[in-house]
Amino acid sequence: MKRFNIAIDGPSAAGKSTIADILAGKMGYTHLDTGAMYRSVALQARNKGISLENEEDIVKMIAEMDLQMMADGRVILDGKDVSDTIRENEISMMASTVSKLKGCRSALVEMQQKICKDGGYILDGRDIGTVVLKDAPVKIYMVASPEARAQRRVLQNKEKGIEADYDEILEDIKKRDYQDMHREVSPLSKAEDAVEIDTSDMTLDEVTERVLEIIKEKTGD
Ligand code: DC
Repeated sequence: MKRFNIAIDGPSAAGKSTIADILAGKMGYTHLDTGAMYRSVALQARNKGISLENEEDIVKMIAEMDLQMMADGRVILDGKDVSDTIRENEISMMASTVSKLKGCRSALVEMQQKICKDGGYILDGRDIGTVVLKDAPVKIYMVASPEARAQRRVLQNKEKGIEADYDEILEDIKKRDYQDMHREVSPLSKAEDAVEIDTSDMTLDEVTERVLEIIKEKTGD
């Protein structure tokens, strides 16, 4: 059976990655977390002391960096496992800032399209349905209220033993939403043919079931 690609977009902490992982497991597909790629660019810029506003140097840095997105979700940057480091709070905001650069976006979009060219991938991000996989047969736009998303992040952090302040996290989420929705190049927006799911009051099982229903409706699988 022909393997297609699935696009999942939405604001930060809406549950895109968690759902993409579950779907990948159920379908035997691979999850490509495109946010992790922008995070890796931000980390590399921090390590090399390159300004996030300097498009020319950032583009050169991306061309020289060895970024490997492993099928099991690990991210290897210049031979080093950076999967945990790229989740730091500071890196979240830096990734959102560097993602405004046109040159950074086109380099990463090209990598993403190359990785999933044969199908069988679930990509989650901000511009998947609108730019990276314009022709994907299944496009999901996942949203949730900023409060529900902040609450989930607090719980996730607590589970990992990380200190979490609800108000601070809520503020960060709102700031990043604004920045991701108002940038000039490919701002976060719902593709015309995407199906929106508001996950604020849904359990993980309910969201998974709804997405599987949409996949069936759109592809017959
Ligand atoms: O999904 P995330 O929170 O890990 O993404 C980090 C930042 O990267 C996000 O604030 C905006 C940017 N991003 C993007 O511009 N386009 C994508 N496809 C994925 C992420």
